[in-house]
Amino acid sequence: MSDFDTNWLDLREPADGAARDAELLEGAVAWLEAAGDAPLAVDLGCGTGSTLRAMSPHAPHLRWRLVDNDAALLAEAGRRLAATENVETVQADLTDLDALDLSGVRLVTASALFDLASRGFVERLADRLVAERAGLYAALSYDGSVAWSEEHRLDAAVVAAFNGHQRGDKGLGAALGPDAGPALADAFAARGYAVRTAPSPWRLGADEAPLRRLFDAGMADAVAETGAIATPDLAGWRQMRMENAGRGTCRVGHLDVLALPR
Ligand SMILES: C[S@@+](CC[C@H](N)C(=O)[O-])C[C@H]1O[C@@H](n2cnc3c(N)ncnc32)[C@H](O)[C@@H]1O
Repeated sequence: MSDFDTNWLDLREPADGAARDAELLEGAVAWLEAAGDAPLAVDLGCGTGSTLRAMSPHAPHLRWRLVDNDAALLAEAGRRLAATENVETVQADLTDLDALDLSGVRLVTASALFDLASRGFVERLADRLVAERAGLYAALSYDGSVAWSEEHRLDAAVVAAFNGHQRGDKGLGAALGPDAGPALADAFAARGYAVRTAPSPWRLGADEAPLRRLFDAGMADAVAETGAIATPDLAGWRQMRMENAGRGTCRVGHLDVLALPR
């Protein structure tokens, strides 16, 4: 069981789909297609299969291996993808990276995963991919920036405290949080890969009010754990954000990374 439920993942999937950088997605698809028949893509931290759904319209003839440690999310992925050919689901804890079967993989994919991971995890994964001559398409790593059009005097303090919380251990060592995108780019560039990065921010308006409410409430919960902001002040910030979720816009920064062997 993880902290991620289907309701949260379902709310974010359309925003993620709109945010993904189209050129990096195309580059990932081109790398897969250059391999010929039915190349293998392994999606790490797959949740209910969002990455597969984002990629398969562009690359329909892949074999997919979806990996997650959350049995409930994997079961939901299996249910939603029952009609899709060439998909296997694997329950595995990525903390035991050495045990992960990557033989023959052409592309490792992940969405909204690496901000939860440590630098050591990224370095070990990069070594595994080099050994397989495989590429990496890592979308939607949070970059540490959140901006609302309707401002509150505590926004900067809340974002700073949230980013500190993001660097705590989320199960894969001290998390990279907002440093995940640059850490991925550096790790693969150091191993001679061709690395491209592109911003992939959520741009959330009134239509995304339910996602905004959950995101802002999650920020407030995380900040409360840090103790960085006095409880009444944080309660005031949370209340304002809940009331304003249907007004103005909210931008949440992410970075997409595509790293391919030369
Ligand atoms: C933010 S969710 C993203 C899910 C999916 N990639 C998406 O974009 O909708 C992070 C995912 O990583 C998985 N995860 C977190 N830590 C993990 C670990 N140690 N081993 C395997 N999966 C893990 C969670 O269960 C969850 O499904």
